[in-house]
Amino acid sequence: MDLIDSVDRRRTFAIISHPDAGKTTITEKLLLLGDAIQLAGTVKAKKSGRHAKSDWMEMEKQRGISVTTSVMQFNYKSHVVNLLDTPGHEDFSEDTYRTLTAVDSAIMVIDGARGVEPRTRKLLEICRMRDMPIITFVNKLDRESMDPIEMLSHLEDELQVECIPETWPIGSGRTLRGIYRMANDDFVIYEQGQGSVRFDYNTIEKLGSQESRNWLNFEADATEETIELVRDAGHDFNLDEYLAGRQTPVYFGSALQNFGVSELLDRFVDIAPPPRPRETDSGTIEPEFEKLTGFVFKIQANMVPKHRDRIAFMRICSGTYRKGMQMRHVRLAKNVKIADAVTFMAGDRAQVEEAYAGDIIGLHNHGTIRIGDTFTEGDSISFRGIPNFAPEIFRRVRIRDPLHSKRLKNGIRQLSEEGATQVFSPLNNQDIIVGAVGSLQFDLVAFRLLEEYGADCLYEPCQIHTVRWVSSEDPIVFEDFCARTRSQLARDGDEHLTLLATSRPNLQLLEERWPDITFATTREHAAIG
Ligand code: G4P
Repeated sequence: MDLIDSVDRRRTFAIISHPDAGKTTITEKLLLLGDAIQLAGTVKAKKSGRHAKSDWMEMEKQRGISVTTSVMQFNYKSHVVNLLDTPGHEDFSEDTYRTLTAVDSAIMVIDGARGVEPRTRKLLEICRMRDMPIITFVNKLDRESMDPIEMLSHLEDELQVECIPETWPIGSGRTLRGIYRMANDDFVIYEQGQGSVRFDYNTIEKLGSQESRNWLNFEADATEETIELVRDAGHDFNLDEYLAGRQTPVYFGSALQNFGVSELLDRFVDIAPPPRPRETDSGTIEPEFEKLTGFVFKIQANMVPKHRDRIAFMRICSGTYRKGMQMRHVRLAKNVKIADAVTFMAGDRAQVEEAYAGDIIGLHNHGTIRIGDTFTEGDSISFRGIPNFAPEIFRRVRIRDPLHSKRLKNGIRQLSEEGATQVFSPLNNQDIIVGAVGSLQFDLVAFRLLEEYGADCLYEPCQIHTVRWVSSEDPIVFEDFCARTRSQLARDGDEHLTLLATSRPNLQLLEERWPDITFATTREHAAIG
């Protein structure tokens, strides 16, 4: 098979949703439809966010499972689908944001009764920054749901995106009869209790046919009127608008009952984009470029924490990965032979020996790979666009036994390279400040410092409101700024200068006083060296 064909067949995506909307359930049903599992209920629920603090130990044990379920690859029709998992709990949202940099599109799952929830809104904002195409699935139709017309206008208002219903629900909850498929002009008849296996629901042809009218019975007139109204009044689907993230096709169904999901998947493989070109510091890389390129977007501890072995997840952007090939680690300017990369083929197929643009491979990392690192077949280029987000909460971390301070430094450095936390070293003192987006991140870091590095730590509060990455095009102004604000400056884990603002007014004052300084809220992981 040639490279262009292999690239064209690939679909790499993530599911975005608010916790409990049904991400895990729908993931399982997609795997079922892709023949990657035979029976629903076999995928471990990845509800790590719901674990109480004392469950970290359990999470560690489960991590081996989550490494392989972080990427789920399966074949569907003539396509190779890569589904990238994102953590459920919002405290780990940085990880989610970074995963979104490695996909080409997303499926958004909405709870049919609750509508758009805060996490969905936030994730959609991130997707929008990247003009990411999104297909929407309104879930839990087997429960009492919002009126579908209301749901569409709610989605359009909340998300500022044109909605194109491609299936239409007939009832919900106890009155659920089925869905109408706009493109097929037929009804799919709902039957309860078919959720755990692949099941072909019966269909009835044509809106207005005698058979469908008999089936709809006394609801026939109202149903036909509504569907015609929706069809006439709605926008037409436009592929370019979808690809630009301005339109979203909407599907209704029940993930739990595996109802309406195959319609979603069929359409997804049909219209979702294959791997897209990616920007580097020296131009765009097309996925069909014959030489291998890729970037690391996630690092995860492996099953055996004692070995300090980590898996670095690399998204391939072009070329072909072949087992045993040599790659260039661009930041270190070193060639490395990769003999044991992990590939993620769900189901019982043989491990793949080759991977293409859109695929994810796992590299064993013994501390030399960082998030944002680029690997190539020799070229010295670096991919852009893997952001570090300004943390929202900060703590000073101290070691209980001063003799172990080296362990702490080591551990914190590695955990920050992994993206588990962000670390800041003030220029004026020896403190170690850690920053996170959610407080559970701190618990995980303390746990791992102890377990993996033997560093027993405690956190102290510190008066930091937020950080900004500071820079200026004018070196003289920048030097002056640094001299005057030195007591508030720190270096982040990659040695970039940051301002630790003590309060919002403090930041505002500095921004007004120093108009030639850029105070950035995100920083891209850049290749240094
Ligand atoms: P998440 O990954 O987005 O957090 O959601 P998850 O799939 O775990 O689903 C959250 C809850 O919603 C689960 O119930 C799940 O069974 C239920 N659910 C998902 N899809 C549907 C659906 O289409 N219809 C109905 N009625 N329920 C659905 P739970 O009670 O929290 O967990 P469990 O004990 O059933 O696993």
